[in-house]
Amino acid sequence: MAAVSTNISHCRIFVVLIVAAHVFCCGATDKAKDVYIVYMGPLLEGEYSTASLHLSVLQEVLGKSSATRSLVRSYARSFNAFAATLGDEELKIIASRKEVLSVFPSRTLKLQTTRSWDFMGLTQAAKRNPTVESDVIVGVIDSGIWPESESFNDTGYGPPPTKWKGTCAGGLNFTCNNKLIGARVYNRTSARDVEGHGTHTASIAAGAKVRGASFFGLAKGKARGGVPSARIAVYKACDSDGCRDHDILAAFDDAIADGVDLITVSISGYPIDFEKDSVSIGSFHAMEKGILTVQSAGNNGPSSSTTGSLAPWLLSAAASNTDHDFVAKVVLGNGMTFIGNGINSFTQMNGTTFPLIHGGDASSTSCRSRDPELARFCAENCLNSSLVKGKIVVCDGSEGWGEAFRAGALGSIVLEGFTTDQDFIVVLPLPTSALEGSQYLVVRSYVNSTKNPRGNILKSQIMKNSVAPVVASFSSRGPNPIAPDILKPDVTAPGVHILAAYSPVSPPSHDPKDKRSAMYNIMSGSSMSCPHVAGAAAYVKTFHSDWSPSAIKSALMTTAWPMNAKKKEVSFSDVYGEGEFAFGAGHINPVKATDPGLVYETFIEDYIKMLCSMQVRFFGTCPRESKGSQKDLNYPSMQVRVETGKSFTVEFPRTVTNVGIANSTFVSKAITDSQINVSVKPSILSFKSLKEKKSFVVTVSGKALPARIRVSASLVWSDRTHNVRSTIVVYTPNS
Ligand SMILES: *[C@@H]1O[C@H](CO)[C@@H](O)[C@H](O)[C@H]1NC(C)=O
Ligand SMILES: *[C@@H]1O[C@H](CO)[C@@H](O)[C@H](O)[C@H]1NC(C)=O
Ligand SMILES: *[C@@H]1O[C@H](CO)[C@@H](O)[C@H](O)[C@H]1NC(C)=O
Ligand SMILES: *[C@@H]1O[C@H](CO)[C@@H](O)[C@H](O)[C@H]1NC(C)=O
Ligand SMILES: *[C@@H]1O[C@H](CO)[C@@H](O)[C@H](O)[C@H]1NC(C)=O
Ligand SMILES: *[C@@H]1O[C@H](CO)[C@@H](O)[C@H](O)[C@H]1NC(C)=O
Ligand SMILES: *[C@@H]1O[C@H](CO)[C@@H](O)[C@H](O)[C@H]1NC(C)=O
Ligand SMILES: *[C@@H]1O[C@H](CO)[C@@H](O)[C@H](O)[C@H]1NC(C)=O
Repeated sequence: MAAVSTNISHCRIFVVLIVAAHVFCCGATDKAKDVYIVYMGPLLEGEYSTASLHLSVLQEVLGKSSATRSLVRSYARSFNAFAATLGDEELKIIASRKEVLSVFPSRTLKLQTTRSWDFMGLTQAAKRNPTVESDVIVGVIDSGIWPESESFNDTGYGPPPTKWKGTCAGGLNFTCNNKLIGARVYNRTSARDVEGHGTHTASIAAGAKVRGASFFGLAKGKARGGVPSARIAVYKACDSDGCRDHDILAAFDDAIADGVDLITVSISGYPIDFEKDSVSIGSFHAMEKGILTVQSAGNNGPSSSTTGSLAPWLLSAAASNTDHDFVAKVVLGNGMTFIGNGINSFTQMNGTTFPLIHGGDASSTSCRSRDPELARFCAENCLNSSLVKGKIVVCDGSEGWGEAFRAGALGSIVLEGFTTDQDFIVVLPLPTSALEGSQYLVVRSYVNSTKNPRGNILKSQIMKNSVAPVVASFSSRGPNPIAPDILKPDVTAPGVHILAAYSPVSPPSHDPKDKRSAMYNIMSGSSMSCPHVAGAAAYVKTFHSDWSPSAIKSALMTTAWPMNAKKKEVSFSDVYGEGEFAFGAGHINPVKATDPGLVYETFIEDYIKMLCSMQVRFFGTCPRESKGSQKDLNYPSMQVRVETGKSFTVEFPRTVTNVGIANSTFVSKAITDSQINVSVKPSILSFKSLKEKKSFVVTVSGKALPARIRVSASLVWSDRTHNVRSTIVVYTPNS
């Protein structure tokens, strides 16, 4: 259920959170009165009648006086639903009413920059439409925003676009401007961001250009969002405790009616049925109004089937690295230098060396009596403060920095993690360098064999990383447990070590004892890749204001970079969950996406057919001849789950719309694996005009496959100018 926050501080916290979430999930139902969401589909005739309907439904079940008390929220601007506190019996009665499509408990979801734009080719020099761009409004559902950040400075912005119907209702001590044009809060007093998360995501998507932004001098450069001229509207549904479904749904209800062009939600949970997921429901109604929603895939990787962003009308973003890494050098008293990983902005060690002490030699008495071995890992409450004061502690455990900080050490040198792929590092409250095993052993033996061992941890530098992009270990993976024939996530984008705006009242390391205040911070997570994809989608929209959400999504998917198969050796990750289950169609390429040649478009009727085939009562009654399954949906990627041990032949009917050159001929090419055959009929498509549509059928066949295998191929339509690539995935289930 609840996923993990961005500040994926370290893997241990990760695991604890996941377990806690499961406990919550399964114990929640026997509590007397919880908040439930009653979903009733599209709006009725008008706002007033929808809202009064909600109260009357409740009155019939609960009686007049209790009904008003029970009603938590009425959604009546963009769709028809309400939230109420209900007991088990009341719940059953309401669920049995025929106008009610689903009733589900309001879960708690968790929150899950700018060299990254250059890395994917959207440079400062890229072609732009600044006038159109300044009419784009990006809706951000998150933990609020820090309005005074330079990234939201409105110098040079005109008044909000006339289509804007929202308002600035940011609560206590909050003002909007011509950049940050709207704010709303749900069950909170102010839209001011005290977490840093919402400020970070908003500035990645649409922050203004800011010269000289850095994290205490690190990653210095010009910070900018994907669409720096666009406007931002903030919907605060989250804080450090997470985000409740009934608040998220309220944010969607408002954002759609306020007139945003695009919604970015860096919030995600574990897989759940579409009709019980606030993001699936909200984004469905957004899509209906021509608004694309981009959602983070989640931070529950690298295990397979962990992504909670599963609906085909959502654009789901996995997180990958860019070509730079942060290193923190360690220099020993004997002059030896080691290159470790670390985001170390501290300079207090500048120049001089300090005493080094191994954790095992700094044990507190209480720890020794527990287990003498624990201190060498710098386990919790194991270090004696008076022994580590003024020193750098050398820890055999990758998370020893936490205890070193608690005990008041000057810094820490830790062993790089070996339990999970350590392909990202976080901002820590004290100078720390994580060394790879053999280097760490050299340092440790220096400490053990030297009379007065001394050392220094240098301020971080950026080093080029040639192995990029690679999907981060934490990024949630497919396959899709709810719609098994829809590939998820859809694409990947930068989500590792992203510099972006931050809240100055939130400690940059998230440790309350970290007294630094930062206007820009470096964070990692699919929360950071999501606004990159949203910014890219907004950028595409500035060239094609008439494109449907599915056309924009298709453009980003079919022009994505095929991912690098090169990957650093990962001993613990599961091969099944890698490849397309990690990155979908590949890494977004915003500039290419403005000219995709062909698009795969999907409209509301198509989604309804698919939902009906899944027996999801998402939209009231199903059309009579509702043919259409998941694999028949006109999706830009093609995926099918086949039975283990049985040969198969699967057809994917598809229709493309010409958005390239009026008079053009596209020739198909299938790039396939020896385990499957792919054929396309017809294999050539000739267009006479723009917006012309042509249909074709892709047939994928193969012999019996073993259990738990993922086979991939691709189809490329080429007119020599455009290469329109669709990823094809055939897989077998777990057993
Ligand atoms: C916004 O930017 C302008 C121009 O750089 C500057 O003069 C002004 O002080 C900034 N406003 C705020 C509120 O920081
Ligand atoms: C409003 O927020 C600003 C920025 O944090 C702060 O300086 C100011 O003291 C706050 N004012 C009030 C009344 O809380
Ligand atoms: C509003 O927030 C408070 C405090 O966080 C919480 O106790 C309460 O349940 C919330 N109410 C609703 C309706 O979500
Ligand atoms: C600390 O390092 C910075 C550059 O990283 C340098 O400019 C400065 O002079 C150094 N200060 C001392 C006291 O060594
Ligand atoms: C910490 O070390 C000091 C000095 O060796 C010693 O006096 C003290 O008892 C130790 N405290 C604990 C809690 O181990
Ligand atoms: C330190 O050296 C001694 C003697 O060589 C050895 O027994 C001990 O294991 C070493 N300790 C560490 C932490 O390397
Ligand atoms: C369309 O393209 C073909 C081949 O390039 C060319 O022969 C034909 O004249 C073109 N037709 C029009 C109407 O431009
Ligand atoms: C692919 O097609 C060829 C030619 O029909 C056939 O020989 C081969 O066995 C097929 N491969 C698979 C995996 O079905």
